[in-house]
Amino acid sequence: MVNKKIKKIIFPVGGLGTRFLPVTKSLPKEMLPIASKPLIQYAFEEAKKAGIEQFIFITGRNKNAINNHFDHAYELQTVLDEQQKEKQLKEVTDWLPEAGRIAFVRQQEPLGLGHAVWCARHFIGEEPFAVILADEMLMSKDGFLKEMVECFEELNKSIIGVGEVDKRYTNSYGIIDPEKIDFEGKAVYKIKNMVEKPDPENAPSNLSIIGRYILEPEIFKYLSVQTKGKGGEIQLTDAMKEMLKEKEMFALEFKGPRFDCGNQVGYLDANIAYMLEQSEFNSQIKQILKKYI
Ligand code: G1P
Repeated sequence: MVNKKIKKIIFPVGGLGTRFLPVTKSLPKEMLPIASKPLIQYAFEEAKKAGIEQFIFITGRNKNAINNHFDHAYELQTVLDEQQKEKQLKEVTDWLPEAGRIAFVRQQEPLGLGHAVWCARHFIGEEPFAVILADEMLMSKDGFLKEMVECFEELNKSIIGVGEVDKRYTNSYGIIDPEKIDFEGKAVYKIKNMVEKPDPENAPSNLSIIGRYILEPEIFKYLSVQTKGKGGEIQLTDAMKEMLKEKEMFALEFKGPRFDCGNQVGYLDANIAYMLEQSEFNSQIKQILKKYI
């Protein structure tokens, strides 16, 4: 019998981060900090809040900093312990996953998001799973993935996280063609179609895919075709579009603050927003902002 609980997540972290060169020459994009925490740790914490138990990172060359971040750092921990810096010690270790809960799969070539997800197929097996793209940050107390998981438990169908985007920027995102449905007062849509990065004049709506997915395992059948799409990459959106012809899919809209940290402006926006959230820095940050306005 198919197990319908969402226990596994894929974090595709093998991308080259070309919009952040030269820093991403040696530092993984996912290790860029928002305040003092790397992007990937926010994604991991969101997954934990959603009840995820197994975390699969799809990595590539030059990504070892991610592996190290999810491991113990004995020298550092010993020094912090000796100096009785408990708060700092907690920041380094408190959130670490239990042994055996994380796996790293090497994506040998950066062939696209669809290929990255497909690389995890043997680790997922026959159960529905989640995907988070760490460069999309969604500010929400309990985490948006948790809401998506709850929705999935009711619908038992693949669900994609979406958010409104200015129509001028549709060519940076996957865009869905939505049909609003009545679902417990939530912003849930039945997806009629989707397209990867359409120009504004061809976009079916302004609801963009925001790097959160709950997918049924059948997606691997469509991913295995490995047709190259937009930008010469194997696109997850294209595989989902094919699956849509045979299976219903839904979208849940996130209405809170969203930051696309895959570009430099969105990244700065996220840093300002998350720093302002910290009471110790709030007034200083506001003063700095005033200086520039
Ligand atoms: C990917 C997906 C796209 C989605 C976006 C969210 O694009 O292909 O559908 O809207 O993430 O950030 P990328 O930003 O990796 O080019």
